[in-house]
Amino acid sequence: MSRPDIFYQPLEGETSGLPHDPFKSFAIPRPIGWISTTSQSGQDNLAPFSQFQNVSFDPPTVLFIGHQDLYKKRSRDTVMNCIETNEFVWNMATYAIGTRRLGLGPLLTDVCRHKLREAVNNTGKETWDDEFQEFGIEKAPSRLVRPPRVKDSPVSFECRVHSIVRVANDFHGKKAAGPHMVGNSDIVIGRVLGIHIKGDYITGDGLFDVLKAAPIARLGYRQYTYIDNIFEMTIPSMPDEGNAASVLSGNLPYRDLKEEEADKTA
Ligand SMILES: Cc1cc2nc3c(=O)[nH]c(=O)nc-3n(C[C@H](O)[C@H](O)[C@H](O)COP(=O)(O)O)c2cc1C
Repeated sequence: MSRPDIFYQPLEGETSGLPHDPFKSFAIPRPIGWISTTSQSGQDNLAPFSQFQNVSFDPPTVLFIGHQDLYKKRSRDTVMNCIETNEFVWNMATYAIGTRRLGLGPLLTDVCRHKLREAVNNTGKETWDDEFQEFGIEKAPSRLVRPPRVKDSPVSFECRVHSIVRVANDFHGKKAAGPHMVGNSDIVIGRVLGIHIKGDYITGDGLFDVLKAAPIARLGYRQYTYIDNIFEMTIPSMPDEGNAASVLSGNLPYRDLKEEEADKTA
């Protein structure tokens, strides 16, 4: 039996009336920003942020959003580290299998197989420690920034913080947390300085092998999904639109800036 349609106004304090808040199930799937940072004192940190997106493609720019941490009563460690150091690394969170260091001393630093998706979920724990160490996730050095990468991630972006925008919690005009008690939200925007792509995930015709990587994404409730199918469509374009539509579809490469400089000076 179907239920009646629902309309509710969250800012008026109304709820859906359903047993679980459905809001997070609508803007889906949310790709996961598995973000590594390093504090000023040198402690590494790794945490998942499902509020993660591209801001622009040229130059590549991304954002993730850290809510106020109610356990620590301040911004997330990740956000604190970004404020302190201006650097973070995004790692692609995937369904597939990675390696895990057992960390039991030189004889037993064996590497065992484990599910990367569980590592992503584990790093959501609000710990005071280095989550790489706590959950046996292998690090790989970055080239341009201090925070390490997740070694088993097929793609990582080394980023410099561009800006941090605070969306203050303003529930009912009062500076108090709403029903979910998440407090203020900090939008951390970062320029992508360097991109790592594992060769194993590049197809013969030079595309990123999405199905092999199987990135995971958040839905609402305890639900996640991963990419296990793809379909193609061509974005329609105006006859006088020139190359813009092809660039949008990723069909034309962006010109190398160094090449353009060389052309100008030639
Ligand atoms: C899959 C997943 C997605 C999450 N997305 C967010 C998010 O978008 N924003 C946020 O503030 N917390 C999010 N969390 C919770 C944080 O990851 C968690 O509070 C973590 O401890 C923060 O770590 P940090 O304090 O080391 O930065 C998410 C947790 C999981 C498991």
